[in-house]
Amino acid sequence: MERYNNIIEFKELSSTNDYAVEITRQKYVPDFTVVRSDFQTKGRGQIGNAWVSNAGENLLFSVVLHPTHIPANNQFILSQSVALAVRNTVSCFCEDVYVKWPNDVYVGQEKIAGILIENLLSGKIIETSIVGIGLNVNQTEFLGVPNPTSLCKHVGQRLECGKILELFLDCLRKYYTLANGNAENIREEYLQNLYLRETPNLFRDSVGTFMGTIVSVDVDGRIHIVDDSGLERKYYFKEVEYCIS
Ligand code: BTN
Repeated sequence: MERYNNIIEFKELSSTNDYAVEITRQKYVPDFTVVRSDFQTKGRGQIGNAWVSNAGENLLFSVVLHPTHIPANNQFILSQSVALAVRNTVSCFCEDVYVKWPNDVYVGQEKIAGILIENLLSGKIIETSIVGIGLNVNQTEFLGVPNPTSLCKHVGQRLECGKILELFLDCLRKYYTLANGNAENIREEYLQNLYLRETPNLFRDSVGTFMGTIVSVDVDGRIHIVDDSGLERKYYFKEVEYCIS
């Protein structure tokens, strides 16, 4: 396992993503620099949601990357790489680990990790990417979150967050390198581990609910769902949601 020295640790921050954005604005921050905090007062999730996590119980961190090898019009491959790295990390402890499109990580029917990636583009390249991850490790009681779980709930004992972070960084390095040339392998692995793929489910779009089956996700990150009438519908993130009971 590689040793990681570039880990900036805090007891409390507003958001590790916000801090990482701030330092990258001020100076050049090397690839794989990690900002980690035991607690966030303004943790941010997808679609403007808050990310709330008990102090000191979970992994809350952001990784700074400069993925200049990934063209800006292919940024979904980065999202897939990160999701697979989290999935692989979680798979070291649990079975039935999936990526829920676009990049949540689930164990069975429950969410164990969320990912918030913020890209700074410069022309046709991704100059800087702030990869924010919230991975539930030791928290066992969650308030007001629909279907959460944690590693501790599956393993039955508390785990050391620092070790899990190192495991994750090793996985991320592997996929980050693969994204440079072996993107097809990443796409395939993503599809193989996609939550509810080939399983009929209820979805909701701007028109209403419909039964459909996820058949694939394309290079632009659009999910392809075949509905009951056999029509293949394609959606970008936020255009469709899973109706999970
Ligand atoms: C989601 O909505 O599923 C994404 C959640 C991402 C949360 C992480 S916690 C560390 C980093 N800092 C933030 O403010 N958000 C991300």
